[in-house]
Amino acid sequence: MNYLYVINYFEPDEENICQEEFQVFFQQPFTSRYHFSQLDIPFTRSVFIKDRLTILASNSSLTMLLKEVEKLELYSDCFKVIYYKNALTHLDYRTSLSYCSRLSEVIGGDTDLVHPQDIFALTYIEGVYYFGKLEKNNSWHKYEHKPYSYSHSLSIKAARCAINLGNGTHDDLKIIDPCCGVGTVVLEGLAMGLDIRGSDINRDVSYKGRLNIEHFGYDPLLITRRDIHDITEYYDLAIIDVPYGVYSHISQEQQLDLINEACHIASNCVAITHVEYDEAFKAMHLSYQHKCYLRKGNFYRYFYVLEREDI
Ligand SMILES: C[S@@+](CC[C@H](N)C(=O)[O-])C[C@H]1O[C@@H](n2cnc3c(N)ncnc32)[C@H](O)[C@@H]1O
Repeated sequence: MNYLYVINYFEPDEENICQEEFQVFFQQPFTSRYHFSQLDIPFTRSVFIKDRLTILASNSSLTMLLKEVEKLELYSDCFKVIYYKNALTHLDYRTSLSYCSRLSEVIGGDTDLVHPQDIFALTYIEGVYYFGKLEKNNSWHKYEHKPYSYSHSLSIKAARCAINLGNGTHDDLKIIDPCCGVGTVVLEGLAMGLDIRGSDINRDVSYKGRLNIEHFGYDPLLITRRDIHDITEYYDLAIIDVPYGVYSHISQEQQLDLINEACHIASNCVAITHVEYDEAFKAMHLSYQHKCYLRKGNFYRYFYVLEREDI
């Protein structure tokens, strides 16, 4: 099966992290916002993959494409065919409309333009027509409004990126956020169907984290109050968003100690920091496979995917 993944990010703030996440998902460098691939990746976990077209037929001639689609004997009780506009090749509106109506005629079943169950799409990219089933990735922010948040909470985008950078396309990793705050990473991980839990040293914050995940129907006990130094279980992945700023009064040494601890409770660790720690990590014998940043104006968050050199 071939897929067309459509990637969207804001430049320049999200470019670096989006391209690194792409590398993790597709195991190759980012080259285009329209990416053809045979890989069936869990794309709804990404905040950057906007849509996916599962390609059912492709041809440089529309007549031949129609014949190919007819041969597929597609049927749907409730469908519509749309023209999927792309930034690479323009097809004028009238032409695209007439092509879509010809395609609808060779699909069995009923059309529903307002509430279709199935969306078939045609697009034309650099001399080739592609027809397929369109899936939109529009529910990744369903937990945007959780009951409790605080000034140090990660955005959903940052939380999802951190998970994807460390977890890739895996479904079965045991994941922990050992400084989980009000549980943004835990909540997003649960929404992605992952085996994730969290803990935080602060009583009030961890209590709010429990209330947050319970609000969305998850087991509140997946978040506990605990100092990272007291964690005895071992995980595949730890995701740590280190405390920072004027309210936390935490030194760089303390931040590095927390990251070091996270690297000792899991095989891999995603560390989210506000300064670059390349030299410090080298001195701590921590190597990184991925490093990227997410910007918001002048504010940078760095994401390192770390591994201990001694394991
Ligand atoms: C930047 S905040 C995490 C925010 C979180 N990602 C969120 O979105 O809500 C860092 C957290 O680390 C916790 N923390 C600090 N020292 C800790 C320790 N020794 N063990 C566990 N948690 C700790 C703090 O209580 C704080 O909630």
